[in-house]
Amino acid sequence: MRSQGLVVAIDGPSGAGKSTAGRTLAERLGYTYIDTGAMYRALALKAMRAGVSLDSEEALATLCRASQIELTDGGRRVILDGEDVTTGIRSPETSRASSLVSVHPGVRTEMVARQREMGREGHVVLDGRDIGTAVFPDAEVKFFLDATPTERAQRRLGELRAAGSDITLEEVEEDVRERDYTDTHRAESPLVSAWDALELDTTRLSPEEVLERMLAAVRARQGQPLDLGRLAEEHRRSPRRYLEALRSLALSVGLYRLPAGSEDEQRPHGEEEVYLVLEGRGRFRMGDEDVSVVPGHLLTVPPRVEHHFHSIEEDLLLLVFFAPAEGSTEAKTAE
Ligand code: DC
Repeated sequence: MRSQGLVVAIDGPSGAGKSTAGRTLAERLGYTYIDTGAMYRALALKAMRAGVSLDSEEALATLCRASQIELTDGGRRVILDGEDVTTGIRSPETSRASSLVSVHPGVRTEMVARQREMGREGHVVLDGRDIGTAVFPDAEVKFFLDATPTERAQRRLGELRAAGSDITLEEVEEDVRERDYTDTHRAESPLVSAWDALELDTTRLSPEEVLERMLAAVRARQGQPLDLGRLAEEHRRSPRRYLEALRSLALSVGLYRLPAGSEDEQRPHGEEEVYLVLEGRGRFRMGDEDVSVVPGHLLTVPPRVEHHFHSIEEDLLLLVFFAPAEGSTEAKTAE
């Protein structure tokens, strides 16, 4: 039994936005952020410096057991045997090497044991490839973040360029492809989504939207009552139309705002939707039907049915239920 709080697991391929999401989520929850990839990176760096072959499981496992790897400053700094290696572990060579050292069961056993120890009391957000499947299969909340390979490569390129690298997009794409292959094809704990993980495609989401959806899921898991009044206030101050409020595997709930004179830009997709009109006035078209809507109206839209709000006279505020959860893989495959 964990005494302090939840274990939040975040898995997914490189460049899916895990570390930004993990760090900000931990900050908002007041949790400790643990970047497990940084641990494999630190070991890879040490192995390369020591001239230890990346194929040698025995030597790498021994090296791992003899290494002190600390994550400090809210997960921002990585200390290897007392040396700050935060920048050194981010090079493309270390990225490639970290993927190679992490295939060895002898290395993983040691890393997983350390990660379990770090998260034993809960109150942690762990980011990696096997957190929800191997490190903490009993994590209270699990996320699987993904994005298209091109988007992930673009993000990595941005990070590397910001760090002063002159690497090309083609080189980053090649690296992402190679690491995706190694990480998903290894025999020991390959990268897969846990069956009970909430899948989030971050391709078209801003970091704020990813964070909001993750917080919505944690809130749902904590059984925190939804304060619609407070959310509506927050929404009024936000420039965005949709604000997710609660999220589970099968459902997402949010507030959707359509200003007077605007048009609903939504296109038919795989989810079933239910709208409850909270405020405003306008019209709603679905198939051949066209009705005027006022507060209190409940509108049910089957999956993939053409529909939209129009002729909006007064700002519409809608409570929306998406099933399966908006942006989930299940919703996508239903398209
Ligand atoms: O998340 P990252 O890119 O910093 O991870 C570097 C490598 O470490 C990644 O290619 C695979 C490996 N890794 C792993 O096998 N298991 C983890 N929990 C985290 C990372």
